[in-house]
This record gives sequence, structure tokens and C-alpha cells, in this order.
Amino acid sequence: MAGSANLNVMMKTARKAGRGLLKDFGEVENLQVSAKGPGDFVSRADKAAEALIKEELMHARPTYGFLGEEGSEIEGDDPTRRWIVDPLDGTTNFLHGLPHWAVSIALEHKGQIVAGVIYDPVKDEMFYAEKGSGAWMNESRMRVSGRHRMIESIFATGIPFGGRADLPASLQDHARLLPSCAGVRRYGAAALDLAYVAAGRYDGFWERGLHAWDIAAGIVIVREAGGILEPLHPDGDILADGHLICANEPIFETFAKIIRQT
Ligand code: IPD
Repeated sequence: MAGSANLNVMMKTARKAGRGLLKDFGEVENLQVSAKGPGDFVSRADKAAEALIKEELMHARPTYGFLGEEGSEIEGDDPTRRWIVDPLDGTTNFLHGLPHWAVSIALEHKGQIVAGVIYDPVKDEMFYAEKGSGAWMNESRMRVSGRHRMIESIFATGIPFGGRADLPASLQDHARLLPSCAGVRRYGAAALDLAYVAAGRYDGFWERGLHAWDIAAGIVIVREAGGILEPLHPDGDILADGHLICANEPIFETFAKIIRQT
């Protein structure tokens, strides 16, 4: 798909950062690691990737703002546009040598996510979408799955770690959902969870307490692939509270009814 100039900048940047991360992934034992909290790590690789992404994006669009997981926040001269970046979603997987992590870059305009790119360098899969132009993976158009029976559907989630307050709610979700579906997966990278819903690999996803950078790009990608994506609590604000739920249209209501009981 021929994307806009912004989308091209985002994809080029994600690819460049992904190549650097892939090199680090091969030497992961040499990365200095510090813990932000239990189970929540940051490595030299995260920081280097964020610095590279910030430089590329700010060079291409000097007036836009920037928000990155590793602490970079810039208020741009254009207050209506902002990049939201997770340089390495799935840091814990990365540090354990698990090949499931990604670079996530979103563009927000007037509070709406208008473009998103999620790049998995290990599989060389580039998931991307722009509002109104559909969702794509590499050269192929993506659609959410067409599954309409809960019992045949697979859902992804993240289980809150390190003593996070949302753990009891998540465990109750599992207890209610598991008897009526084909399985729940926890692969450890929320951006890829959303990309996989868009690609029809998962039928739905929900999680509580994510950060804006984990999910911003995935929001537009899932919606452009035809999925329904809503705040987990109907009056919530996804980017602010990080609680969200999404699925293909035929199962969304049933799935949401089960999850929204907590
Ligand atoms: C994490 C992953 C994980 C989710 C965590 C996130 P990070 O992001 O997306 O799947 O369950 O809540 O913090 O820290 O690897 O960028």
C-alpha cells in the first residue's frame, strides 16, 4: 500500500530501530539491565532504540510532540500532533531471549490516533494502518477473524505482574472466560497482541493497566482491520487508563459481557 509521508517516516524509523534491536538481541547477555520494579525491566537496548526513534521522528517532523516509554517527553510547537512510541514492547521477552517483541510507533492528532506501525524484526512483519485506509501486514491487507463462535475463539491478554493492583480482576476474568472459549494466550507484548487481533490470528484481546505507548499504534490498526476496540469500562479513556477490550464484530458483545463483569 502506498502510505502517506508520515506513515513512510514511521515505517522507515521502525525498521531502522528494529535492525538495531535485532543486533542487541543476539548479544542479550551483554546488555546492562535495571529493574523499574518487580518484573519490569529496562535495558540499554530500550534506551538506544528510543533515542534513535526520537532523533529520526523529530528530524522529519520538528514541530510534533513526542512521548516515549523510556522517559522522553517533548511538547512540540504544534500542540495537536504527537508521536507515541514504545521502542521495545515485550522487554521481558527480549531479555529472556524469547523472540516475541516489537517496535511500536503511533501518531496522535487532536487526541485521536491517526496512524500506527508495529514492527516485529524477528519475523520481519510490519503491521500498519492509517485512519480511513485499511490495515496492512507487509504487502497484504489485514482483516480481523470471521470466527463467530466463542467456543472456537482464542483470546490474548496480559496478566498483571509484580504485585499490580489489577491482578485479582484479571484472574476473575480468566475464571469466567476459559470455560466458554478455545483458549487464552499470554505472550508478553501487548502491541503484538493487538497486531495479531488485526491479522485474525487472535479473535480478541483485553488487558487492564497498560500504558499509552503499549497500545496507541494497535488502536488504529485493529479498528482499520474491522475490529471493535473499546475502553474496558464503557466510560473509560483508553489512552489515559490503559484498560481496553477488542474483538471481531460477531463475538465482541458476548466477550465484552463476560469481561465487563469485574
Ligand atoms: C509490557 C507488555 C506486556 C504487558 C505489560 C507491558 P513493555 O510492555 O506489553 O504484554 O502485559 O503490561 O508493560 O514493558 O515490555 O514495553
